[in-house]
Amino acid sequence: MSESIPTTSADAGASPGPGPAPRRERVLSGMRPTGAMHLGHYHGALKNWVRLQHDYDCFYFVADWHALTTHYEERGVIEQNVYDMVVDWLAAGIDPNDATIFIQSRLPEHAELFTLLAMGTPLGWLERVPTYKDQMEKLKDRDLATYGFLGYPLLQAADILIYKAAYVPVGEDQSSHVELTREVARRFNHLYGRESNFDELARAVLKKLGKDAVKALETERKSFQEEGSEAALQGGRAILEASRSLAAADRERLDAWLRGTGKTILHEPLALHTEVKKLPGLDGAKMSKSYGNAIAMREEPAEVEKKIRRMPTDPARVHRSDPGDPEKCPVWQFHQVYSNDETKTWVVHGCTTAAIGCLDCKQPVIEAIQREQLPWRERAETYLANPKQVHWIVEVGTERARTVARQTMREVRDAMGLTY
Ligand code: TRP
Ligand code: SF4
Repeated sequence: MSESIPTTSADAGASPGPGPAPRRERVLSGMRPTGAMHLGHYHGALKNWVRLQHDYDCFYFVADWHALTTHYEERGVIEQNVYDMVVDWLAAGIDPNDATIFIQSRLPEHAELFTLLAMGTPLGWLERVPTYKDQMEKLKDRDLATYGFLGYPLLQAADILIYKAAYVPVGEDQSSHVELTREVARRFNHLYGRESNFDELARAVLKKLGKDAVKALETERKSFQEEGSEAALQGGRAILEASRSLAAADRERLDAWLRGTGKTILHEPLALHTEVKKLPGLDGAKMSKSYGNAIAMREEPAEVEKKIRRMPTDPARVHRSDPGDPEKCPVWQFHQVYSNDETKTWVVHGCTTAAIGCLDCKQPVIEAIQREQLPWRERAETYLANPKQVHWIVEVGTERARTVARQTMREVRDAMGLTY
């Protein structure tokens, strides 16, 4: 399940006017430490992270354990990668006063929750996650028949649930992980979010109802819990409403029985998908440092110019006088991200009639990227000159995250009866 992004504080449920600021809902997201960020990272994720930080209580973390799920044999999660990435988050405009930045491996609580959730998570749930088979296929050169790789979406679930996040901004490819997270939370609440004699208590209340009502309730309950039918839940609730003899506490108990849960300990998050236009790599494939088709956020302006000028275009435009088709050209996709309507009209007309050359066409893109980089460069310079400050930001973020993670773990241990 996913939602489009509410962008204003009004959408986030904040009320204007005086009084204490309402508690903001939490947003959580993470990224593997791949080092310096490129334009694909910025337009695919970071830009959105920056936008969300004003309206939500944003937690952004370095998913270093996740990197090990595929690259366990390389000691590749080097400090340099972690801090290069964090510097670029800050350069992009993540404000450490607004958002909480931290490193996963500094919080063993994630591992504890992962372990506890692992006990009751059916293997089939993990085997059926589409990224599992996809990635195995894609990364054929690696041995991914490991326990850690299979369990990686569950680790992600723990990352999310431990902060009781309401929203998780991720790419479409990660939807199934958020969906799994929802199922895991539901199951946890079902198993542990109630008194040990819950069923007995519910049965006792059911006795107060007529036979027909009980039968109808059981049908709705089954339909809701097995198929997730909202209509069935509403139907069941209507029956409870109509049972005037029930005390409020009884009705509440049966409502929980209907939903198959008691107390909500872990919250089901929603995926937030950005409707941003995707920025491909220089060759039109996905932008990635390892494909050699990337422009780094901190790329030198002269290098940006060089790379764009060398970009392949519509192969049909062999000569300057050959007309082209923007749809067959990766430069056009850059215009989609960087240009206004006027420029785009100029491109389409100029390309299809051979009125402009490809270098003319690329010029506005070069300038737009260089302009976009200016504030990044400025902020990055400050942070690069003060590495201690970056460490301090991560330190403060980690401690802030720890406070929340510890509290959730207290509740989880308590619910599971692990407080002796
Ligand atoms: N799995 C994500 C990726 O590979 C990173 C990630 C780990 C994450 N834990 C997360 C993203 C929790 C969102 C929420 O890109
Ligand atoms: Fe691509 Fe622009 Fe050249 Fe057309 S004119 S082929 S859109 S670079």
